[in-house]
Amino acid sequence: MARDNKFFRSNTELFVILTILCLVVLWTINRVFAPDTPGEEPRDPPEIETASDVTVANIPLATGKEPIEKIFVQSGCPVCHTIPGIRVAKGQEGPKLELGTNARKRLADPAYQGNAGTEWEYVQESILNPGAYIVAGYRDHVMPRWYGQKLSAAALDKMIRYLLRIEGVP
Ligand code: HEC
Repeated sequence: MARDNKFFRSNTELFVILTILCLVVLWTINRVFAPDTPGEEPRDPPEIETASDVTVANIPLATGKEPIEKIFVQSGCPVCHTIPGIRVAKGQEGPKLELGTNARKRLADPAYQGNAGTEWEYVQESILNPGAYIVAGYRDHVMPRWYGQKLSAAALDKMIRYLLRIEGVP
């Protein structure tokens, strides 16, 4: 027992409490003055849940190295389109993407006035320049017109290849 100390039963107790206090102070100083280095805690990508979330600022650039599902999801396509094989893609604002069947139908439509000569070109045109042809029953100016800025050539190719494999009702 330490006789000269009224508050603590022993010097060991005093030592332990002082140590804890010091650690708390050091930790607080460290938190307050920690440099806010970017990349230390990576920001989560913004959630793309509704059509209004699909803005140039929210959509990252797809390099084409990402898995196909990630390219569709991060680009916001699932918000508006049902895409067979992409679990979260249940959107209804645009047509169900079954280009393996529908690209041919669009090109054969007498109302088609776009520049595509092949099914591949049709899908590419639909993504880069959606106003070139409006699928019957849908509105123009709903699908964004800036996807050319957000999809590398490799990402676009990967999407087109995927979409052309999806067959619907012939
Ligand atoms: C905000 C809603 C919206 C988003 C986001 C969107 N689309 Fe669309 N898309 C539409 C609408 C509406 C149409 C039908 C009107 C038209 O033809 O432009 C359409 C048409 C299409 C077509 C033509 C389909 C057909 O059957 O001929 C393709 C292909 C397509 N979109 C692909 C995509 C891809 C790939 C993405 C993501 C990179 C995407 N869309 C993102 C709304 C959207």
